[in-house]
Amino acid sequence: MKPVKIGILGLGTVGGGAAKVLQRNAAEIARRAGREIIITRASASDLSKPRLCDTSNIEMTTNGFDIISDPEIDIIVETIGGAGVVKDMVLQAIENGKHVVTANKSLIALHGNEIFAKASEKGVIVAFEAAVAGGIPIIKAIREGLSGNQIEWLAGIINGTSNFILTEMRDKGRDFADVLAEAQALGYAEADPTFDVEGIDAGHKLTILASIAFGIPLQFDKVYTEGITQITRTDVEYAEQLGYRIKSLGVARKTEKGIELRVHPTLIPERRLIANVNGVMNAVLVKGDAVGATLYYGAGAGAEPTGSAVVADVIDVVRALTSDPENRVPHLAFQANALADIPVLDSGDFQTAYYLRLHAEDKSGVLADVTRILADCDISIEAILQKPPAKNETIVPIILLTQVTQEHKLNAAIAKIEQLETVSGKVNRIRLETLG
Ligand code: HSE
Repeated sequence: MKPVKIGILGLGTVGGGAAKVLQRNAAEIARRAGREIIITRASASDLSKPRLCDTSNIEMTTNGFDIISDPEIDIIVETIGGAGVVKDMVLQAIENGKHVVTANKSLIALHGNEIFAKASEKGVIVAFEAAVAGGIPIIKAIREGLSGNQIEWLAGIINGTSNFILTEMRDKGRDFADVLAEAQALGYAEADPTFDVEGIDAGHKLTILASIAFGIPLQFDKVYTEGITQITRTDVEYAEQLGYRIKSLGVARKTEKGIELRVHPTLIPERRLIANVNGVMNAVLVKGDAVGATLYYGAGAGAEPTGSAVVADVIDVVRALTSDPENRVPHLAFQANALADIPVLDSGDFQTAYYLRLHAEDKSGVLADVTRILADCDISIEAILQKPPAKNETIVPIILLTQVTQEHKLNAAIAKIEQLETVSGKVNRIRLETLG
């Protein structure tokens, strides 16, 4: 059989990593795909930069549209990132009848509904394993490996930069800003690092995971995102003393009222495997009704790990080139005409437990006032920890863990607690998931 020709848009870290893997493992990949796969063309904005792969047989250009319109190319690999002109490139590639493999989470999260509709119309595949959790084959696992299950919930550490920062803060007592600078220097962080630390990057990935888990359209605009910028070393230490780790989690949960889609710092019991996922590593826990809880762990970023996912998608596309488009695995796991319009819940309807830290006068009746407010709001307390006052201080830190409640009840309780004369400042609130 003739080799399959591919063109890569953006031969940077991920594109270069994918090309390097394709070249190094060419023989093994051909045995798996049933055909040789060769990179004939690639684009980059600066052709003078060194590349991770061998470019001697690759025709390089600064204009990706040249590659998209090349009739010899069957598959376009998009590893530029971002959702501006790249969206036009991907839609044009589909229009030209090319299959597309992309590592672009924001593109899929923001424009995936339109892109998949167009791809179905043209009978081509758009594959996006590399868009979520780098090298972990989580899309394939949920879409195919767990397709017999009703997915109940999933929870993932899906932003390596945030995990790296929280791990360093806990292990080495380092400050937030200092660790973020290192993550940027090491190349983990997004071009705009606020995407990492404010939960946007994880929100993009969660949007995609929720869609394939529950058979709902992609709807990033409904994801609740809260970053890690307000997490202090004090909270990390108190959480530790109570037997918890703080992680930035993306949570998607199906409840009777609808679906929760939320990214936020979360206390997790330290005995859970996922609580011990450190540094830039990613992990996703998926709970299916038949299989129970399953955990997927690995590198969430980096040239070759992400390249591994890109190459797996390329092989999948090659295997499916001659298949009937109607009988391929659906892009979003469920048949396109069977996506359900399940409501995505507002944050007030979230159901979770909470860690609260407040500062109060050290005198009788203060704790009673706080616990009465919680009881009046129908919130049950799981644990209380009162720390000694600092030297020459009369104000003491009080830490409370609640049982699972509804967020609007918790918000009402916090507002009342903050009005107590004996309580100073704001109540610091972090969500808590037992992941049991
Ligand atoms: N900035 C991302 C992260 C890279 O830190 O996880 C992979 O998407």
